[in-house]
Amino acid sequence: MPIMRLFAVLIICSLAFSQPLMAKEIVIKFSHVTTEKTPKGKAAKYLQELVTQRLKGKVRVDVYPNSQLYNDKEVLKALLLGDIQLAAPSLSKFGKYTKKWGLFDLPFLFKDADAVACFTNGAKGQALLGAASDKGLKGLGYWLNGMKQLSANKPLITPDNAKGEKFRIMSSDVLEAQFKAVGANPQKMSFSEVYNALSTGVIDGQENTWSNIRTKKFFEVQSDFTESNHGVLEYVLVTSTEFWNSLPKDIQTELSAIIKEVTLKETQWALEAARADKEFIIASGRTNIHSLTDAQAAQWVAAMKPVWKQFEDNVGADNIKAVLQCSQVNVVSNERE
Ligand code: SIN
Repeated sequence: MPIMRLFAVLIICSLAFSQPLMAKEIVIKFSHVTTEKTPKGKAAKYLQELVTQRLKGKVRVDVYPNSQLYNDKEVLKALLLGDIQLAAPSLSKFGKYTKKWGLFDLPFLFKDADAVACFTNGAKGQALLGAASDKGLKGLGYWLNGMKQLSANKPLITPDNAKGEKFRIMSSDVLEAQFKAVGANPQKMSFSEVYNALSTGVIDGQENTWSNIRTKKFFEVQSDFTESNHGVLEYVLVTSTEFWNSLPKDIQTELSAIIKEVTLKETQWALEAARADKEFIIASGRTNIHSLTDAQAAQWVAAMKPVWKQFEDNVGADNIKAVLQCSQVNVVSNERE
């Protein structure tokens, strides 16, 4: 090799090895099942935005909303296989991984969104975030959707009205027991299938939040809604322990701070959606909305509450007690009612 060419090769090699090796960008695929207009959909985009601002070149978040990538049945398997790195399913969908999160499905346990916040921010709620860690799932935070309402193609005013009706439920044994307690026929089904199942009559009714009822257009295919507020739809932002542990410590710290910030916004969006989406559905005039008198509400409580005893060992009597304490506290004013 002529001497000049040899020099050139040596210079190039020494330059290449003197550069610090560029770390590969970490890609976080975030798959969820709601539309981008829901509190969860907005929060996922906000998380992506903050990661782009603060960790550009180091971490990137790709968001796949609306069951575009995986539906309910597939998403947790995909997370554990490392095909995605982030999801925020309803806590009702983790029965295969932990029975503890069934707490959030107990009918009439959480009085309102304030009680949910009080519990999830408290010691018991924070400890419960780790309930699926032995299955390789790491809870990173709770995200709210809101209180659930009942619907069918007939008024549901007393529990008797639900008898024999087929209700779609999320994959939760507690929700199954809740509907069986009123003599109804619960059917576990993915969120992405509910609209079609309602419009073709495969199922008669469903339970969900105003946000999901609006964004998935369930109000267009159900003649009657009952403002029952009988349960809560709460999410867990979840990753795999393996993925989380593979992240450098400084990235974990930055991501944890971002998640805290996003969670605060997500709660605000959820509270706003609960109000605005209900108003939207009323204004549409497409369906009837019924409120319950105290006496009617008491009948639903009496019919469904025995489910608590049935699942007490699974979810922990101490956790039920902690939620009940929260249900008596007005978190905003921090005073006992
Ligand atoms: C969701 O809000 O993620 C879906 C809830 C459901 O399956 O009903």
